[in-house]
Amino acid sequence: MKTLDDLLAEGVSGRRVLVRADLNVPLDGETITDDGRIRASVPTISKLTGAGARVVVTAHLGRPKGAPEAKYSLKPVAVRLNELLDATVTLAADVVGDSAKSTVDGLADGEVALLENIRFDARETSKDEAERGALARDLAGLVGENGVFVSDGFGVVHRKQASVYDVAGLLPSYAGGLVLAEVEVLRKLSGDPERPYVVVLGGSKVSDKLAVIESLLPKVDKLLVGGGMCFTFLAAEGLGVGESLLEGDMIDTCKKLLADAGEKILLPADVVIADRFAADAQTETVLVADMREGWMGLDIGPITAERYAAALADARTVFWNGPMGVFEMAPFAEGTRAVAQSIVDSDSYSVVGGGDSAAAVRALDLPEDGFSHISTGGGASLEFLEGKELPGVAVLEGHS
Ligand code: 3PG
Ligand code: MG
Repeated sequence: MKTLDDLLAEGVSGRRVLVRADLNVPLDGETITDDGRIRASVPTISKLTGAGARVVVTAHLGRPKGAPEAKYSLKPVAVRLNELLDATVTLAADVVGDSAKSTVDGLADGEVALLENIRFDARETSKDEAERGALARDLAGLVGENGVFVSDGFGVVHRKQASVYDVAGLLPSYAGGLVLAEVEVLRKLSGDPERPYVVVLGGSKVSDKLAVIESLLPKVDKLLVGGGMCFTFLAAEGLGVGESLLEGDMIDTCKKLLADAGEKILLPADVVIADRFAADAQTETVLVADMREGWMGLDIGPITAERYAAALADARTVFWNGPMGVFEMAPFAEGTRAVAQSIVDSDSYSVVGGGDSAAAVRALDLPEDGFSHISTGGGASLEFLEGKELPGVAVLEGHS
């Protein structure tokens, strides 16, 4: 795999460099609520601009349906990126159209053009290789003859999409600093991690996490389960779960996981329940055997948090993906906070697996440097740990 450093050694001054970044940040209206992914994209871009490259950044935001939609515009992202970079950032009004061309043509050395949301073009996510290829050619055309591609959108490398995968086949391609760092961390986890190796999984659905659970169980010493998905496990143990999230069709699968590896799997002993899904709901903390009919579990309770803390205290390696409760609402944030704090307090090599858990670290004001690595890729890091090949990485390694 050729890397950003290889490219810098070749020299980029005056050259156009297409960078795929993952700038898919959560927004509240036009306000970015967590700019982690933008900040994580800055080092690669600024190395390039610092070396005099004319940088063309392409990225997606949300899941627009292949046509422009104002609420998915990268406008707020362009503003933030411009604040974070010394270089000037200009947002093009389209993806590969007239505005993109003139914006790129107008770049001076060390400046940045951000193309509008790549998913405004339906070809980006097309299942049809020829359609994706056509968009990839348009992207490659923007950087022209001497142009190169730097793949740095780790959060999206599990997607076989035009700006992630196909374009890498058309231009000389290099792994950006973020992609390299992320892959190195995940290789460490999937190689021979120091033990005890404890994995903490939360989030709403067992079905989303089943593949990673099945591939991690043989490797881990303990798997701590929280979040909405714990209720399907509790139901598999024969407990009533009231109105909590429940995937009925996954109960048998959970039963089998518990029968096969129950000694490794820790489930909540108590939960915070609420009479409705709201920050001002009536709440109560109960043992899992005392769930109330009509109420829903929205966080793990303090007894559970303490047990999980004990399991994490002597861990040497920790991977955490998925919040323990609805941390966005104060009454249901303590479980996530406690588990995150236990990870910070441990002496482990700790990796936070992207998405909601990374957002939780920042939203709950935990020290980011309390973790060894906070991934920018939720789905991508899970698929890596499942042992799946990531198309956006494989193509850089030349074996896709
Ligand atoms: C993410 O947010 O997980 C990445 O940016 C990928 O987005 P996607 O799941 O919509 O492909
Ligand atoms: Mg700037």
